Amino acid sequence: MATAQKKPISTDKSPKAQEATALLKADHKAVDLLFQQYEAARSSTKKKALVSQICTELTVHAQIEEEIFYPPVQAELKDKELIPEAIVEHATLKDLIAQIEDGNPEDALYDAKVKVLSEYVKHHVKEEQNELFPKVKASKLDLYALGEQLAQRKEELMAKP
Ligand SMILES: [Fe+2]
Ligand SMILES: [Fe+2]
Repeated sequence: MATAQKKPISTDKSPKAQEATALLKADHKAVDLLFQQYEAARSSTKKKALVSQICTELTVHAQIEEEIFYPPVQAELKDKELIPEAIVEHATLKDLIAQIEDGNPEDALYDAKVKVLSEYVKHHVKEEQNELFPKVKASKLDLYALGEQLAQRKEELMAKP
């Protein structure tokens, strides 16, 4: 009597699997929503909590892009412009984030700094999504594999105390 045939091990991508560009876009959208919530926030406690979330999200996002996404993209596209500019923009973002993290919602320039950060992030995101991502999508890079690496690293960094 033949034994029941075992189901083959599924090689399907898990439902959570997504392309690197989709994961990064989702991050961009999440931060944009947080900035919108900040605009509407009135209390210092609420502002402080949102800013802390925004800064964590942005710092982790920049780190996973720099560690996992930018290097293979730069190599594959033989890019000499977009990635170097993105790295410089990340450095400026990190400066602004450090200033904001050191400050308080009561400080005179606090709201202004958060506003400038949000505008700067918008500019950076626009360049990534309009200039870089289309080239990445058209390349031979395995975007699902990169997406998985990004997701894993993000989870690791977010879990940090
Ligand atoms: Fe970036
Ligand atoms: Fe990004």
